[in-house]
Amino acid sequence: MFLGLDLGTSGVKALLVDDAQRIMAVGHGNLTVERPHPGWSEQNPDSWIEAVQTAIAEVRQAAPQAFAALKSIGVSGQMHGATLLDDRDRPLRPAILWNDGRSAEECRILEDRADFRGIGGNIVMAGFTAPKLEWVRRNEPEIFARTRKVLLPKDYVGLWLTGRHMSEMSDASGTLWLDVSKRDWSELLLEATGLNRSHMPDLVEGSDQADKLRTDLASEWGVGPVVVAGGAGDNAATACGLGITAPGEAFISLGTSGVLFTVTDRFIANTKNAVHSFCHAIPRTWHQMGVILSATDSLNWLSEITGKSPEALTALLDAELSAPSPVTFLPYLSGERTPHNAPEATGSFLGLKREHGLKEMTQAILEGVAFALDDCRLAMENGGAELNTAWVAGGGSQSTTWLRIVATVTGLTLKVPQTGAQGAALGAARLGMAAAGIENPFLSPTMGMVIEPEADLIGAYKSRQACFRKAAPAAKQQTS
Ligand code: XUL
Repeated sequence: MFLGLDLGTSGVKALLVDDAQRIMAVGHGNLTVERPHPGWSEQNPDSWIEAVQTAIAEVRQAAPQAFAALKSIGVSGQMHGATLLDDRDRPLRPAILWNDGRSAEECRILEDRADFRGIGGNIVMAGFTAPKLEWVRRNEPEIFARTRKVLLPKDYVGLWLTGRHMSEMSDASGTLWLDVSKRDWSELLLEATGLNRSHMPDLVEGSDQADKLRTDLASEWGVGPVVVAGGAGDNAATACGLGITAPGEAFISLGTSGVLFTVTDRFIANTKNAVHSFCHAIPRTWHQMGVILSATDSLNWLSEITGKSPEALTALLDAELSAPSPVTFLPYLSGERTPHNAPEATGSFLGLKREHGLKEMTQAILEGVAFALDDCRLAMENGGAELNTAWVAGGGSQSTTWLRIVATVTGLTLKVPQTGAQGAALGAARLGMAAAGIENPFLSPTMGMVIEPEADLIGAYKSRQACFRKAAPAAKQQTS
């Protein structure tokens, strides 16, 4: 038996699979995000451990015998979060998350100090870990001085599981301290942030063994020796869950963030278009991503302020999609990464009239996210990527209407897996299988449905997209 743990932003998922990758049990634990200032996004690292414990307890309860035969664990998680630990491995402050925009000024400072674009392969963007540490250094110097280790969120869970500071290449790339082509920490980039190798965890490949489960946890859970894999950042893990390991293969994720991901056989930077260039969780493999910060989070925002669930909101749309909404939505509620690199960008509805209501606004949200993902497609293609088809993942991919809009706007043929959204947790379990010696567990999913762009809607969407593209630069300049 193999356990995949996915530490998301809104919750933890635990997935237990057997040798044939059949699902034995699933468990969940909830998480909330603290936003103490506009643009900030934080979580208490100990809440991750509590949510992991809840999710594992659910799995143990659902399948006690299967759980007792546990052989390995893989962990995936939200990327980029800065988890600062003292000399007793206690968090010094709440973790600063991937969608926190406070460090715009620090990004400019770091860009001037070292070749983050050349070595780290990426523009220094506010979501990444390095500028967050520079922010702490400038604004909370006493905490910076007491920082002994900086871990990523899933690696804090790994520390709890094994007692060891470990990371792997895919998530480590998102710190901006990794030399992405060499797959090792860059002392130059660490130094530019006042850190050195001793502040970093050791590195393994995601599909290799990082360590073993702590013996006290193993006896508490009633399991034998358990291998813990390197794991992956949630996007690389989703790719592993969809069997996306070969160059050119791609997926779109409609999660809290929105992602267009494609595999490359070497490190190729595309900083001109604010595309992310990271290592994959599999040795000698890399990937590129366009990332938007508010995909399902845009719908969740509308849900929170209207008191209607996302499902109730999308149910307002016509089953037959016949035209774009007369309203246009810019989804920059937490700023934007690809292609704008603008933590200060703001969201907006355009074209609202007295007769419009929640239906038009909800449809505009789904469309605004699709337009933003198409900006990612263009950014990646401008850097040489070739994209024609993509698997889909994430909670938003449960909505066929949303997928039809995304296919029509991006021109991509979308492949929907039959078994639903096991994405990152399944990928994590598979990395655990690989670390336990099982050869190539990264199988392609069974195809559930293929969604093609809808020819009779393309023209109408092109003109709505023109409004979107015209408004985007203005959103970028507004300050909150
Ligand atoms: C990727 C990114 C997000 C988070 C969401 O660069 O910031 O996709 O990983 O969990």
